Amino acid sequence: MASTGADGAGPRHVAIIMDGNGRWAQKRGRPRLFGHHAGARRVREIVEACPGLGVKYLTIFAFSTENWKRTQTEVAGLMSLFRRYIMKEMQDFVRENVRVRFIGDRPRLDAKLRALMDEAEAMTAHCTGTNLTIALNYGGRDEVARATKRLARDVAQGRLDPEAVDEETLPRYLDTRVLPDPDLVIRTSGEARISNFLLWQSAYAEYEFIDTLWPDFSPEIFAGLLAQYGARDRRFGAVSA
Ligand code: IPE
Ligand code: IPE
Ligand code: MG
Repeated sequence: MASTGADGAGPRHVAIIMDGNGRWAQKRGRPRLFGHHAGARRVREIVEACPGLGVKYLTIFAFSTENWKRTQTEVAGLMSLFRRYIMKEMQDFVRENVRVRFIGDRPRLDAKLRALMDEAEAMTAHCTGTNLTIALNYGGRDEVARATKRLARDVAQGRLDPEAVDEETLPRYLDTRVLPDPDLVIRTSGEARISNFLLWQSAYAEYEFIDTLWPDFSPEIFAGLLAQYGARDRRFGAVSA
């Protein structure tokens, strides 16, 4: 969206692939879930840093549609962590005026977790500060497939003219329909891939791949990446002035 690095403005929407919890735990000889708990604790201070850094939208990748391939112990531990996290943090998010949203395919999540997600969204619906979006059971291809299904239904039922479908149409069916596109996508832990995150939305995002493991990420590292973003020239296919 509008913010360009060239004019020194910071990114309005930052998306983070929070990777490296397992390796962080492994380095300490602890189970992977120990790393996930440490990772979850880092989220709060990054959210709190957003207003001071001019970040209006923060979207974080918590669980992918591919993460079900992990052991039953890890998946169950993560689901339990998400439930506890929402219960524990919600009051603080309301106090800090943080609007919480979730993206991803919800029906596959358990009913208790889904109820907590709905509650968190409802409780913070009036908040006007940072927009925190948590991607939970999220996959970019899955999101596009689900969006296409809804779009096709609208065509079949005569609500949408197929000749009118253009680049603006599909985004209206995506989970992210109320969010601007990310300006900057950060991935921790040294992997230079996007692992099915925000495929459509990140077409023109800037990327930062850093070696830091997610539980070691900090507001200082975050601020440094935003400063680097400010020096970039986002041309969007045009020639810079
Ligand atoms: C990211 O950390 C958190 C989730 C994917 C849920 P990982 O669990 O992928 O950590 P590594 O990549 O194995 O170190
Ligand atoms: C991406 O990390 C998903 C999340 C951070 C939630 P993964 O660790 O699952 O990605 P791969 O397997 O390295 O591609
Ligand atoms: Mg990983």
